[in-house]
Amino acid sequence: MAQITAPRGTCDVLPQDAYKWQYLESVMREAGRRYGYEEARFPTFEHTELFQRGVGGATDVVQKEMYTFNDKGGRSVTLRPEGTASVMRMVLEHGLYGGLLPLKTYYIIPCFRYEKPQAGRLREFHQFGVEVFGAAEPAADCEVIALGAHILRTLGISGVALEINSIGCRECRARYKAALVEYYSQFKDRLCETCLGRLETNPLRLLDCKSPVCGALKAGAPSILDYLCGDCAEHFAAVRAGLDALGIDYTVNPFIVRGLDYYNRTVFEFTSNQIGAQAAIFGGGRYDGLAEDLGGAPLSGLGFAMGLERLLLLMENTGVEIPRPAGPDLFLAALGPRASARAATLADELRSRGLACVTDLCGRSLKAQMKYAGKLGCRYAAILGDDELDRGVAALRDLAKSEQVEVPIESLYEYISVR
Ligand code: HAM
Repeated sequence: MAQITAPRGTCDVLPQDAYKWQYLESVMREAGRRYGYEEARFPTFEHTELFQRGVGGATDVVQKEMYTFNDKGGRSVTLRPEGTASVMRMVLEHGLYGGLLPLKTYYIIPCFRYEKPQAGRLREFHQFGVEVFGAAEPAADCEVIALGAHILRTLGISGVALEINSIGCRECRARYKAALVEYYSQFKDRLCETCLGRLETNPLRLLDCKSPVCGALKAGAPSILDYLCGDCAEHFAAVRAGLDALGIDYTVNPFIVRGLDYYNRTVFEFTSNQIGAQAAIFGGGRYDGLAEDLGGAPLSGLGFAMGLERLLLLMENTGVEIPRPAGPDLFLAALGPRASARAATLADELRSRGLACVTDLCGRSLKAQMKYAGKLGCRYAAILGDDELDRGVAALRDLAKSEQVEVPIESLYEYISVR
């Protein structure tokens, strides 16, 4: 029978590699703790309408990339392509806007997008994201960006460039969109098919086109920064000043518009040229209108999400090592059935006291057990046979130093735990 393989665009984390993910996640959780963010957990699938209204019906994510299906009750549900819409839904549904504000949350979640898989681009991928609600001040934009930069620094990642922009409020954007339409309309004969459509539905997306012809036209396109109203310009200036004060390097790129429709004012991306075409390590921004788009009262919001697979790829490509955890403290090697039975109970006693302790489960010879202990990276191996059991001792070998001492079975815990 043919063997079944994993679906395209998904990836297995093998047990021997899981420590890399655990390390990344521990750095992210610790960053959340230090900045005062609490974890949010929410469903993997939502009503499709949440993303249609939240992320925006004209975006690539909603139009082309969602895993949407009818469940057995005939409801249209979608595997989440991102976390922001869900967290906002949670905040509105549970009335969290009425509690202590700002509400600062983070999450580590799998997301699903039907994209063409390649290095750093998967159909199931993982995001660490943060979302802040009820903080309209530029200081919040700076804190969120600083948290992202803190994670990169802690992981030892360098060479990542931060680009920021402001896409203004609805009023600034309406004027800017009109200017974009006017500019690109001169080149209707040259625009690609998709961009001709964007001219009607979503002119900001024109700036994101990867085709060489449309891409070249971008250079002469109007800049959103010339269309910001007084309040939006002031907000952006304060964000820039805040980043300067924090010593966070950035460049202003007036053509960053982001691929999701909920953004307003500050948007940003951290990019790297070390992971091929998938340059964005993470991105985010403000979405002060999203609460209302989802039927709630006005509530400002902002955040970012970073892709864990892209971070790992970047670390691998730039030679950043992830510390491999130590192997088990002790392997209990047993010779004969009596010793095997004692090894099993002794191992459990030692585990209850906190030692990582492994025994043989395959009836191996003593020699094979010692080899196995070495391969597992155990610090010590204790050998138990009938003679040792009669005398209440174990032969304890330090596997790194190849030194052996005799230790009373009762004292194994103390002996190992003080070293
Ligand atoms: P996004 O830019 O669509 O933003 O995705 C954020 C990050 O997720 C990307 O920078 C990338 O690292 C990773 N990512 C996206 N798609 C894939 C994929 N197919 N394969 C691997 N990694 C991927 C958002 O999702 C927003 N919700 C971010 C946000 C939070 N904005 C405000 N709050």
